[in-house]
Amino acid sequence: MPIWNPQDKDWNERRSEIINILCNEEYGFLPPKPEKLSWEVVEEDNRFCAGKAPLKKVLLKADFKSGSFFFPICVCIPKAQKKYPFFVHINFRDNVPDKYMPSEEICDNGFAVLSFCYKDVTSDDNDFSNGLAGIIYNGKARKDNDSGKIAMWSWAASRVMDYAQTLTELDLTRATIVGHSRLGKTSLLTGATDERFSCAISNESGCSGAAISRGKQGETIKNICNRFPYWFCDNYKKYIDKEFDMPFDQHFLLAAIAPRKVYVASAEEDLWADPVSEFLSCVAASEVFEKMGLDGLIHNDNLPEAGEVFHKGNIGYHLRAGLHFFSREDWLHFIEFLKQK
Ligand code: GCU
Repeated sequence: MPIWNPQDKDWNERRSEIINILCNEEYGFLPPKPEKLSWEVVEEDNRFCAGKAPLKKVLLKADFKSGSFFFPICVCIPKAQKKYPFFVHINFRDNVPDKYMPSEEICDNGFAVLSFCYKDVTSDDNDFSNGLAGIIYNGKARKDNDSGKIAMWSWAASRVMDYAQTLTELDLTRATIVGHSRLGKTSLLTGATDERFSCAISNESGCSGAAISRGKQGETIKNICNRFPYWFCDNYKKYIDKEFDMPFDQHFLLAAIAPRKVYVASAEEDLWADPVSEFLSCVAASEVFEKMGLDGLIHNDNLPEAGEVFHKGNIGYHLRAGLHFFSREDWLHFIEFLKQK
């Protein structure tokens, strides 16, 4: 089934339909924008990264009619006088430096990095009464297509982008959203829904992230819905053991980022995420780029081997040796891909 038939409708229209399908059937619709967003710098460390890239801790405040909600972010921008391309990193932890984020090396490579801890937005469990979830649901029952937790973390990444737009040191034409694993799923959803990001990166996001669900090895929709039902909307459960009946698959999520750039990183030993299904999704999503006259994934005509890196097209991919982890090696590949554009 083709993702898009250009004779039928233009890409903007089809892209909106795809996002609508993904939100209605899988992640739930994202919460609305707040009435107002404001912020306060709560801490500054001018000695961070030897003073080359001072660190600011900023508290973002989102006001809704039903109440206000705060979450902290870390902002690390190199000091020299130019506009920096930047990452918004949805992180597992709330401080820097962090084992999943080599801030100094990112900044030495000429990128700024803004990060936040996903659990500061709302907890990673079935409790919909805390943080953003508490404000949005406010005791109301969730409908079948209301935001799951991934959609809420994604909403927060877009608020970080709202804040980034006020900073004169950033090159707003080169904003990349990035996350690992469950937060790689979140990164792709953010790239699909928020066109201010010129690139979206998924590190080992696997099931319900970059990996195609049909024929997937390792984690399946059944596994993920049983263990983490709250990441998604309730409609997603319809597809347990029904992958072949789905009116979409995960390559739709990658394609919804086109013509902007997408990067999928896999790890050889991460069989739960399934590197082959992540790679096949990139191959399938290339259709949309090619129909636009652009290159999708440029790859060899065989499954990748550990150490292979494909950076020539608008979809980037690498297969790293080793385990499920967000490593320095992954970051360096992303930086190399972004520098060549
Ligand atoms: C679990 C889950 C995955 C997820 C991963 C993570 O392994 O099954 O879908 O990507 O956690 O976020 O680390």
